[in-house]
Amino acid sequence: MAVINIEEAKMQVNRKGYLDIAVDPGLDLFSEIERLKKEKNCVLLAHYYQDADIQDVADFIGDSLGLAQEAARTKADMIVFAGVHFMAETAKILNPDKKVLLPDLKAGCSLADSAPADLFRAFREKHPDHLVISYINCTAEIKALSDIICTSSNAEKIIESLPISQKIIFAPDKNLGAYLKRKTGRDMLLWNGACIVHEIFSVKKITELRARYPRAKFIAHPECEEPVLKMADFIGSTTALLKYTQSNAAKEFIVGTESGIIHQMKISSPDKVFIPAPPETNCACNDCPYMKLNTLEKLYLCMEYETPEILMSEDLLKKGRIPIDRMLEISRQYNL
Ligand code: 13P
Ligand code: SF4
Repeated sequence: MAVINIEEAKMQVNRKGYLDIAVDPGLDLFSEIERLKKEKNCVLLAHYYQDADIQDVADFIGDSLGLAQEAARTKADMIVFAGVHFMAETAKILNPDKKVLLPDLKAGCSLADSAPADLFRAFREKHPDHLVISYINCTAEIKALSDIICTSSNAEKIIESLPISQKIIFAPDKNLGAYLKRKTGRDMLLWNGACIVHEIFSVKKITELRARYPRAKFIAHPECEEPVLKMADFIGSTTALLKYTQSNAAKEFIVGTESGIIHQMKISSPDKVFIPAPPETNCACNDCPYMKLNTLEKLYLCMEYETPEILMSEDLLKKGRIPIDRMLEISRQYNL
């Protein structure tokens, strides 16, 4: 591998968002990553939407709630986050004294991008009697402007834990928000954001697929639009979807979420068939382009050079922590 010094590495990260150093193609990246984890007492947390190779080398694979809970309890000195920026930020907020690394700083999220802090602050100020519940898929600035954070695993319980008279703003996912309004019967004000991956599924093509696989169960993530969710046999977070495929007797599943989760579904149920739900166009749109920016090479380089690192102000770390701690506390109460 071409070796550069740490200053050059930081300059490269400033320019590109990641380290772009040629890695010897003969290098066994799996054993190199294992070596770095041990040498640096570093824990590797990965979301289910990561490439299979990254999932295979991770210490913990989970959905957004599981990853936040794992970040809160880790004893490691360093955290490398194979996921997207808001997830690594959450890990940093929970571990202000630890180094938190993200292989590519440009691994963002369309939901997080949909809520710029200045516009959201103005919106919140217009509704001072509302409590703000924000989906964890938002920037640290939005977290700092929120009262409680939630994920797709605990949103329903968090909403139901509030008095019926409490007025609520739900941000930034309008699809998850609309689903929660239907589930809980609560009239919430919704921010107009959406996930580019979950918005793309085609009702027409899923209908055709179901005709071809009449015994298949169609499972979907609540970030999908209402017409898609209406067709689903089961709706849940990535962890809930995975558990459903493990416990349900069906042998075929049409999977309405990012295709990375199928890796774990196949590992735990090798005798079952998993078909990615088709998007509107013939693109690979159920691969999240942000999640897929992380590669094994970038992961290895970021652990070796300890950059890109997630950094934020003391103020943001403090203010962002309050609504995340509330989420973790409510999740504990409900054993989530
Ligand atoms: P969960 O991890 O809560 O299932 O959310 C899915 C997602 O889109 C993460 O970016
Ligand atoms: Fe964001 Fe959607 Fe990608 Fe998740 S799948 S990181 S919500 S764009």
